[in-house]
Amino acid sequence: MSVTIKSEREIGLMREAGRILAITHEELEKALKPGISTWEIDRLGEEIIRSYGCVPSFKNYRGYPASICISVNDEVVHGIPSKKRILDEGDIVSLDAGVIYRGYHSDAARTHGVGQISPEAGQLIEVTKQCFFEGIKYAKTGNHLNDISTAIQTYAEKFGYGVVRDLVGHGIGTHLHEDPEVPNFARKRKGIRLQPGMTLAVEPMINAGRYEVRWLDDDWTVITKDGSLSAHYENTILITEEGPEILSRT
Ligand code: MF3
Ligand code: CO
Repeated sequence: MSVTIKSEREIGLMREAGRILAITHEELEKALKPGISTWEIDRLGEEIIRSYGCVPSFKNYRGYPASICISVNDEVVHGIPSKKRILDEGDIVSLDAGVIYRGYHSDAARTHGVGQISPEAGQLIEVTKQCFFEGIKYAKTGNHLNDISTAIQTYAEKFGYGVVRDLVGHGIGTHLHEDPEVPNFARKRKGIRLQPGMTLAVEPMINAGRYEVRWLDDDWTVITKDGSLSAHYENTILITEEGPEILSRT
């Protein structure tokens, strides 16, 4: 598949998908309290998404069994919600959600602390979010994809953090995953040239320790190999003549 350029009509639908997804994240953040199970968060998330006439895009995607990916502490991404997984004060929890609005996708992730968290965990969350903003400074018409990737990696590594290599961001539109891949680390090739109308999911996944990850036996949950904490921050963005527009934020 090649990289698609969205029309004004398509961009309008993706703005609406993004707006609904942003609201979903705001509501989920309010529900994050010690004692809640990740299963309850997933139920609430799916309810909110459907209440806006959207479909949760992750549900049954390649067999994924829930609507929200919920990854706690050393879990990097794709944690599976469970009634047995109860959040505790001090945990950090990454919520990744996707919605489809009239055939168009939006994808976004946030990491939050539960109650009081350690200063180290707080810094990891803030730096991961800032990695996204450092990256999209380069999301300009005429720049290359690798400019975004390089900026993300450079910023994360200043703090001694590990940039996950085995998972990447992606194009997005009528499919959740479209070309191109959007790595969070520099590659030798410049990558494609960015053009107005391209829509990308930029999603730094940053470990407090080393970058290596492994998959649990459920074949979904990705965890850090060294047991260190991990954070995730993602938005769906649009490339315009004037720079990036973040679609999945209110
Ligand atoms: N945001 C994730 C990504 O871009 C999607 C989760 S995959 C799913 O890879 F299977 F959980 F849906
Ligand atoms: Co994504």
